[in-house]
Amino acid sequence: MKIGMLTSGGDCQGLNPAMRGVAKALYNMDPSTVIYGFTDGYRGLINGNYREMTPRNFSGILTQGGTILGTSREPFKAILASMGAEDGTDKVKKMVNTYRAMQLDCLVILGGNGTHKTAYLLSQQGLNVVTLPKTIDNDIWGTDITFGFQSAVDIATQVIDCIHTTADSHGRVFVIEAMGHKVGWLSLHAGIGGGADVILLPEIPYELENVARVVMEREAQGKRFTIICVAEGAMSKAESQMKKKEFLASRAAMKYPSVSYKLAAELEEMTGRETRVTIPGHFQRGGDPCPADRVLATRLGAAAAGYILEGKFGVMAGMVNGKVKPVPLEKVAGKLKYVPVDDPLIIQGKQLGISFGDE
Ligand code: F6P
Repeated sequence: MKIGMLTSGGDCQGLNPAMRGVAKALYNMDPSTVIYGFTDGYRGLINGNYREMTPRNFSGILTQGGTILGTSREPFKAILASMGAEDGTDKVKKMVNTYRAMQLDCLVILGGNGTHKTAYLLSQQGLNVVTLPKTIDNDIWGTDITFGFQSAVDIATQVIDCIHTTADSHGRVFVIEAMGHKVGWLSLHAGIGGGADVILLPEIPYELENVARVVMEREAQGKRFTIICVAEGAMSKAESQMKKKEFLASRAAMKYPSVSYKLAAELEEMTGRETRVTIPGHFQRGGDPCPADRVLATRLGAAAAGYILEGKFGVMAGMVNGKVKPVPLEKVAGKLKYVPVDDPLIIQGKQLGISFGDE
């Protein structure tokens, strides 16, 4: 069995444990397995950059963050746009040619949303593809959870914990911005785990007045600080009503580097309270995978190996209602898993008095 393997898109914790899970299970269940690792994601497949891996390469990486194969962003739009080009720049053709020339039996692809669109495209071109859901954003359709998410939640929660003490000492308002791209899973879980007073998500547009009211009410209750956890994709109600073009133009014209700085400045002006911003950024994607991610990645990796040996292709190893299942790529590709506005965590958060900025 000849397997190609690649990690694509933004890295996250759990990529190495997942590859280790696939490799160990394959080597164990089919000793004839040979794995080729492509360098830097689809770029390696396009340009034929790969190396033959050995079982030793997958040893000792359970606890390692990042990816031993390297990764890159190779946007789906550009891949699609290159299709049919006659001048040798057709990236899909190049990937198919690499696969065929190497006589691979399957391609194992670890990635997020964009990666899954390309994976589905390759599977439509007749390649045998099995994927694994990675991302700190937890926004992949068809799986309850992605690996990387829990590790990022742990880090973002620790940030909120640390900010609590300094916010209390100084009697300040703090805006902490979590990653998550267009969805709010990371902010929601870190916000709840860190005991934030306000959590702002892209899925629930906020009104500044509602956030300011929390700050003033807390002060009236004798509380010295307010912690606001904001998703990087959060937006105000007014912004949410704009057409996409208008929204993008207004964000491009924004004088602040991110939504948190905008919110902090507006809040400081409205409340007169000293407001600071903390952005952990890529810190949330770095370091070792937490034990929960190691377990999840190992389970999904082993399941992916099983699908390969059964000849079940065109699927992602996903966690569906707590069970590992093969999810067809056509169901996964091109969809985002947003936080439902009636997610139990939001309802319970509201019961606790946490503000989501909408009321
Ligand atoms: O998709 C993972 C993610 O970390 C998002 O949360 C974030 O918006 C984006 O990647 C950052 O991308 P880059 O690493 O390319 O700056």
